[in-house]
Amino acid sequence: MQHLLSLFDLSTGDLRSLLATANVLKTRLAAGDRPPVLERRVLALLFEKPSLRTRVSFETGIAQLGGSSLFLGDDVGWGKRESPSDFTQVLGQFVDAVVCRAKSHAKVEQLASYNSLPVINGLTDLCHPCQALADVMTVHGAFGTVADKHLVFVGDGNNVAQSLALVCAMLDMRFTLSCPAEYEMDQAWIDKVFEKYPTAKISTVSDARTAVADADAIYTDVWTSMGQEAEMAERRKAFSDFQVNSQLMSAAPQHARVLHCLPAVRGEEITDDVIDSDQSDVIVQAGNRMHAQKGLLVWLLNRPWIEQNVTDSAF
Ligand code: CP
Ligand code: NVA
Repeated sequence: MQHLLSLFDLSTGDLRSLLATANVLKTRLAAGDRPPVLERRVLALLFEKPSLRTRVSFETGIAQLGGSSLFLGDDVGWGKRESPSDFTQVLGQFVDAVVCRAKSHAKVEQLASYNSLPVINGLTDLCHPCQALADVMTVHGAFGTVADKHLVFVGDGNNVAQSLALVCAMLDMRFTLSCPAEYEMDQAWIDKVFEKYPTAKISTVSDARTAVADADAIYTDVWTSMGQEAEMAERRKAFSDFQVNSQLMSAAPQHARVLHCLPAVRGEEITDDVIDSDQSDVIVQAGNRMHAQKGLLVWLLNRPWIEQNVTDSAF
C-alpha cells in the first residue's frame, strides 16, 4: 500500500507527477474550475499537535476535489484507548486515507505498518514532507524551474530542513544548511539521502553570510520547534547569529526569494521587514500547501485521472 511517511516513499517520477498535477489543479482553480476528482472520498486528520496550515489546507483541498474530511483530535484516543492495530484497522473501514501529525515519527510508521489505509505524514519530529512539496512548488512558481536552484536554509537542522534537503536531492537542486554546530541535521537521515541520491548537492556552511552569497531562496523556520519549549532559552542564545534580517539579506543576491514554513516567531528567526518584504513568498508558499496536497491526494487515490488529464509533466 502506498503511504507518504517521508519523501523517501516517492520516486522522482512520482514526485514530478504529483507536483505537475498540483500545478494543473491550481491553474484550473484560478479559472473557477474545481473538478470532482475525489468525489465522496473521505480523508481523516489525526493530529497530536496544533496546526493551521496543514489542517485547513487538507480539509479545503479534499472538499474542492468533491470529497470530505474528518478532524480527529485527542478524543479518539489514538495510542490510548485501544491497540494501534485495532485503531488503524477500524479507521481503514471508514475512510480512504489519513493525515497524521504526531509527536514521534515511530507512531506514524506504526499506524502505516498495518497497511489498513494510506497514511500521510502531516509533520513528525523527523520530517515534514507535505511542507517540502509546497516549498518546491513555490520555488518553481518564482523561477519557472527548480533545476540547479540553490536553497539555503538558515536555522535549525530540523524536520523541515530534513525534508527540504531530500526534496532538493530529488529535484537536482542545491541545498545548504547554515546553523550552529550542534544543530545540524540527523546524520542517519543525510546518509540515507546520499545512499539513494549519490549526486545530491547538500552542504553545511557555518557562516550565514557566506551561505547566502549565491542563494536563490533563503529559508528559515522557528529555532524552537513544537515539543522543544524547555530548550527555548539555550536555543535563542545558540541561534542569535542565524537571524534572517536585512543585514543578512544584504549579503544575498537581490533576486533571492525568502521562504518560511510558518508559523514564524517574528523578531526571532526572521524580522518583520524581511518577512513582509517584496522578496518574501511566504504567503504564496502557505497557499501552495493546499495546491500541492491536492496533487498528492489525487496521485494517491485516483492516478488514472492524472494519466488522462496531466499530459504536460514539465515540473
Ligand atoms: N507549516 C505548517 O505545517 O503549519 P501548521 O503547523 O499551521 O500546520
Ligand atoms: N519545525 C516546526 C515546524 C512547524 C510547521 C515544528 O516542528 O514545530
